[in-house]
Amino acid sequence: MTTTYNDSMIGKIVMITGATGGIGRETAKGLAYMGATVVLVSRSTEKLIRVASELKSETRNDHIDYLPCDLTSMENVRKLASDFKERYDRLDVLINNAGEIINERRTSVDGYEYTLALDHLSHFLLTALLQDIIKRSAPSKIINVSSMAHILGHINFDDIMIEKGYTPGKAYGQAKLANILFTYELARRLSKTGVTVNCLHPGMVRTNFGKDTTGAWKLFLLLSKPFMISARKGAQTSIYLASSPDVVSVTGKYFAKKKEKKSSKESYDENVAKRFWEISEKLTGMGQTHQE
Ligand SMILES: NC(=O)c1ccc[n+]([C@@H]2O[C@H](COP(=O)([O-])OP(=O)(O)OC[C@H]3O[C@@H](n4cnc5c(N)ncnc54)[C@H](OP(=O)(O)O)[C@@H]3O)[C@@H](O)[C@H]2O)c1
Repeated sequence: MTTTYNDSMIGKIVMITGATGGIGRETAKGLAYMGATVVLVSRSTEKLIRVASELKSETRNDHIDYLPCDLTSMENVRKLASDFKERYDRLDVLINNAGEIINERRTSVDGYEYTLALDHLSHFLLTALLQDIIKRSAPSKIINVSSMAHILGHINFDDIMIEKGYTPGKAYGQAKLANILFTYELARRLSKTGVTVNCLHPGMVRTNFGKDTTGAWKLFLLLSKPFMISARKGAQTSIYLASSPDVVSVTGKYFAKKKEKKSSKESYDENVAKRFWEISEKLTGMGQTHQE
């Protein structure tokens, strides 16, 4: 596929979580082609150094930086935000992209269900901690990579950590629904600040996603492989939301294939969003930071 990129991101600073592989790497590459300064985040320093160097030579953009962080630890997320602020005084686009599906239930260092910690709580906290400089950089953008799988999800307030009846689909569906509830609620809270907040489904994309699954999920991913799109194609909606003039004032929406789409009924429930927000604040220790 040939994709042409303009230079509309010159002078913009973009942070992308989960940027060493799959959709995140291709999003970083597309935005680097457009001239952005891109800050890559993922766990492995070795991988980050390699990918930053590859992207510099592929895009001829030297402004590729990286910050290592295992996002499943809330303490690490705090360090990431403070490391970023030591280097930069603005953030034009935050792309909360990192996410996984986990076969067997396990917990993060903070004792939280792992998928919820990585796919939602880390990004809830990171966004809160960076919100002051994101607001100062307005017009600026927050983009949350969700999934169509959110339609399988439900927020079970009696068992958020899925201690009973864990399945990978239940955990992933809840976390990806959480991404959308967070997007809509944050957009409401940030209206009139010049910060837009949107989320997306990237498509079924051939990446490392789900590599550790077994059973039904493994079979599903295996059978879907021939119909999956490349990571480069899968990055296009994230790149579009980060850079297109068409969406400068669009906020609180869910996208797929660069088009606004409807998300599940539960995702629009403001009572669920508010209650879940309060739980996310408690779990991340963030108090009122997300308020306007
Ligand atoms: N692929 C699909 O079909 C699909 C469909 C719908 C939605 N999505 C969503 O798209 C997003 C990207 O997925 P992908 O398919 O590109 O997955 P991927 O190929 O597995 O890439 C995941 C990225 O996240 C990083 N990562 C994983 N655990 C991390 C942690 N604890 N801390 C920091 N970084 C971590 C990985 O880097 P390291 O391992 O180096 O840390 C890697 O850069 C996810 O949110 C996923 O839910 C994917």
